[in-house]
Amino acid sequence: MQTIKIKAPATIANLVCGFDILGLCLEEPHDIMELRLLQEKKVIIHSSDGYQLPKDPQLNTAGAPLIEMLKSINEEIGFEVTIHKNIKPGSGLGSSAASAAGAVVAANHLLGNRFTNQELVGFAMFGEKVASGVKHADNVAPCIMGGVTLIRSIFPLDIIPIAAPRLFITVVHPQIEVKTADARQILRKEVLLKDAIKQWGNIAGLVAGLLQSDYSLISRSLEDVIIEPVRRVLIPGFDVVKKSCIDVGALGGGISGSGPSLFMLSKDINTAEEVEIIMKEVYTKMGLEHKTFVTTLNTGGCTILESK
Ligand code: HSE
Repeated sequence: MQTIKIKAPATIANLVCGFDILGLCLEEPHDIMELRLLQEKKVIIHSSDGYQLPKDPQLNTAGAPLIEMLKSINEEIGFEVTIHKNIKPGSGLGSSAASAAGAVVAANHLLGNRFTNQELVGFAMFGEKVASGVKHADNVAPCIMGGVTLIRSIFPLDIIPIAAPRLFITVVHPQIEVKTADARQILRKEVLLKDAIKQWGNIAGLVAGLLQSDYSLISRSLEDVIIEPVRRVLIPGFDVVKKSCIDVGALGGGISGSGPSLFMLSKDINTAEEVEIIMKEVYTKMGLEHKTFVTTLNTGGCTILESK
């Protein structure tokens, strides 16, 4: 196999209460990536996205993970990568993670699948480091593995797929940009014990709710008393969008990753579509340009479209 074309989906990190440890893979939108095997140890990046992403592989979120992967291989091979980006950088929908995850999954196929998914997550985190200065796996793990993933630890990596019931996800992307590095910078470094107790109760509740398909428990657990109170100020209209969506029946939701997109989970498509209408109404009233969509949980993660 010399070339491969792969679909790398968007993801929602944190899932409200699980900062850096929970993530979910979306059916749409997705990037398309093409990789070609080279007979020399180098990485070449092309992109047709119009987003002016760095072409230097060391600074590119697809390039850095591939460089790490090549360091672990004692062969004269490399990769030429073409990225067709549909997930807007800085949207909070795992754009950098899709490039990183798509690159390593595609490369692994070209190499005859010699690395495990967990090892691929390890390489892909180098892309997140390039993007935000910090390694985190709550976008790359669900992007690679699909579904909902729990990142129990990143040093050493310990990733647990969490089975989930049918969920519809409504997303609104107010047309502003929030850089993950900035959204991490403003976080407090210490938390009160009473807040920590609430938070880990919610995380455990959310995981149990997903595993037991208990929508009421999922809904009760979608609460964040640590990160959201700080980051909500970065997103205009956050409180009113959230309250209005829950009023029409959403299970709950919050900031997607580090924002500025907001997401809401619903049990059925009708509610998810009503939530979309509400999101549009709120932002139209505020005069803020925005994009919305409704999608479902993607259980397959990165998928191959073609290889030869
Ligand atoms: N967990 C990360 C954060 C995700 O919230 O900073 C960034 O996409």
